[in-house]
Amino acid sequence: MDEQKLIAFFKDLHAHPEVSGSEFRTTAKLREALEAAGVRILPSGLQTGFVAEVGGQRPGRVIGLRCDIDALPVSEESGLPYASQTGGVMHACGHDFHAAALLGAALLLKEREAELAGTVRLVFQPAEEYGNGAQAVIATGLTADVQEFYALHTYPPFPAGTLGIKEGPVMAAPDAFHIRIRGRGCHGAQPHKGISPVPAAAALTLALQSTTGLVVDPFSPAVVTVTHLSAGNTWNVIPESALVEGTVRTLRGEDRAALRERIAAAAEGCAASYGCTAEFEWEDGPAAVVNDAALCGAAKALALQMGFTVARQEDTMSSEDFSVYLAACPGVFIRVGTGGGYPNHHPRFTADPAALWPASRFLARLALERCAAE
Ligand code: NI
Repeated sequence: MDEQKLIAFFKDLHAHPEVSGSEFRTTAKLREALEAAGVRILPSGLQTGFVAEVGGQRPGRVIGLRCDIDALPVSEESGLPYASQTGGVMHACGHDFHAAALLGAALLLKEREAELAGTVRLVFQPAEEYGNGAQAVIATGLTADVQEFYALHTYPPFPAGTLGIKEGPVMAAPDAFHIRIRGRGCHGAQPHKGISPVPAAAALTLALQSTTGLVVDPFSPAVVTVTHLSAGNTWNVIPESALVEGTVRTLRGEDRAALRERIAAAAEGCAASYGCTAEFEWEDGPAAVVNDAALCGAAKALALQMGFTVARQEDTMSSEDFSVYLAACPGVFIRVGTGGGYPNHHPRFTADPAALWPASRFLARLALERCAAE
């Protein structure tokens, strides 16, 4: 496969996006292209997505390259000639680019398999946006011996030819909280005959806005956002209960634990001060993505050697389940400049095809180098 064919493959994926867990066509197309080049697909039992492998004939290290392959429930407004042909579904986060870039890398590695010391495990992960794609891949056991993991992600603020490689935390842990405040419903004209959960929910919402300032080091970014507040359904009835929901974003494990504890305490305290009770539920998202400093250094050196511009991307409190792989081994989550002017998840998001082939070459070279590393 050459650059033009890879770009055509990417455009085809872009025109046929599939949401998390439904990536059947995408999976089939990728497998077909890999099998045609003789790349081994490992038996995994995954319904969508798969794990492939190159190398393994000569002793060396095991390096993992991971992409995601799912699209979003977004109606495309890019105006591209290869825009989505599926209404209401769009590759608005560039996972089509990631999949095509990893396909290109796999084919380049296959061509150089004879000189590959070690093994490259290629993960085409389903369901990154919604679901448990990374956990499903881990559960196959096919990544258990991977010693280092790398992934690329599209990045509109940088043009093609620029990579963002930053050590330390680059994506946050996205946790959710759900708090049900229970009172006792009654007539709106007789509040003394019941216990309204409404003021307790309002007080709790305000209290949560100051939690980060109370328990998190001001030099450590953290977010607590109440996103959903509901109670009652009419004007003259005091409801039985109220719901307060939101998200917590942290980069450090200790902040995550401290905020969880403080939010639970605030829920209980606010509810109690209004005579109500609170049911607190916490839902763990994936951990923060933390890039290994030494491996960042190696990736940066290679990028510069290959003629890329290396820049520092902006910090963000959004999230990525690539951290699930990094729980078992070190790695780097790299931003690849794809231009376009609209952010990820926007209906006009685009990824510059000119960035694709260089991304494949970079991934292949990185894997070759890291397999042979001491
Ligand atoms: Ni994404």
